[in-house]
Amino acid sequence: MEALNSSSSEIQAIGNGNETDLKVPVFSSSLELLEKLHEKWSLVEKKPYPAMYSSILGGIITDPAMMVIPIDDHMVHRGHGVFDTAIILNGYLYELDAHIDRFLRSASKAKISPPFPRSILRSILIQLTTVSQLKKGTLRYWLSAGPGDFLLTPAVDANSAFYAVAIDDDFSQCKEGVKVITTTIPMKTPLFATMKNVNYLPNVLAKMEAEEKGAFASIWVDEEGYIAEGPNVNVAFITNEKELILPSFDKILSGCTALRLLKLAPKLVKEGKLKSVGTANLTVKEAKGAAEMMFVGSTLPLLPIISWDEEPIGDGHVGELTMALSDLLWDDMVSGPETERIPVSYTQ
Ligand SMILES: Cc1ncc(COP(=O)(O)O)c(C=O)c1O
Repeated sequence: MEALNSSSSEIQAIGNGNETDLKVPVFSSSLELLEKLHEKWSLVEKKPYPAMYSSILGGIITDPAMMVIPIDDHMVHRGHGVFDTAIILNGYLYELDAHIDRFLRSASKAKISPPFPRSILRSILIQLTTVSQLKKGTLRYWLSAGPGDFLLTPAVDANSAFYAVAIDDDFSQCKEGVKVITTTIPMKTPLFATMKNVNYLPNVLAKMEAEEKGAFASIWVDEEGYIAEGPNVNVAFITNEKELILPSFDKILSGCTALRLLKLAPKLVKEGKLKSVGTANLTVKEAKGAAEMMFVGSTLPLLPIISWDEEPIGDGHVGELTMALSDLLWDDMVSGPETERIPVSYTQ
């Protein structure tokens, strides 16, 4: 018998690689399956996902091999699910409530009624962070139409499902500028762009297109020619008149970080560094003529952009006002008010 390749050593070719002779292993006992699942993880020194919650199991899982969701879950085979994130920094969950509010708005638009009230979802996320013991990382969580069958609409008597995972991520303030391109991948229509649902294929392809062209990420322009957003980030501009402008949120995702930035930035107006702060429809010409440009999103929280479609933005260097805004957001994450930073108790 000859192994087909090292990553599928159990799939054995009988004879000379004739596919009809492939012998696919059948795991006949749970024990055998468990052993197989643990094989990969036994080689991993530090668990990248220290804890997961699943409403299907009704509890928190710490064994990464068991962090699975059912294949008949409608989020898996129909994309009937929504998600959101939150950052864990220095033992605090940043902007958790803003993210949960958006999560529930997305669920309502996707006609998913959560299995628990908001307070329970929130408590599960905080307890999950405690169990993960992560002081720095991210939470990702999903509401799904739930498992039950393979039809389009939710299974009769299906319960919606809630999943969450704590991820060991490292991040720090971004100080280097990146390049962007205008993507050729069609933008989602407003209904789908404003709800954070799991159908991220356009976003994936837009990011891949940018990377293939040597850029960090891409920018969507809507069918009316106005600037929209990046693949998983909002975008912001500082005009030559020192106005901070973000594209209005009616056709794109209302970013929690972008909204927070709009609340914090007036401080720079008071200090005389910025003239104004607001949202508007920006044409490509106006945007490309901006003095400074940046991405804004929860895992960044702010990333300077220095070139767009191979043309420099402003003088082609990271702008001073961009860094002043980045400092505002970073300080808010590190030492902002407790309404924005939920403390996690790690003593449980
Ligand atoms: C399409 C899209 N736009 C914008 C954002 C930025 O939102 P936030 O600041 O809440 O991370 C995200 C990330 O969630 C996104 O996926």
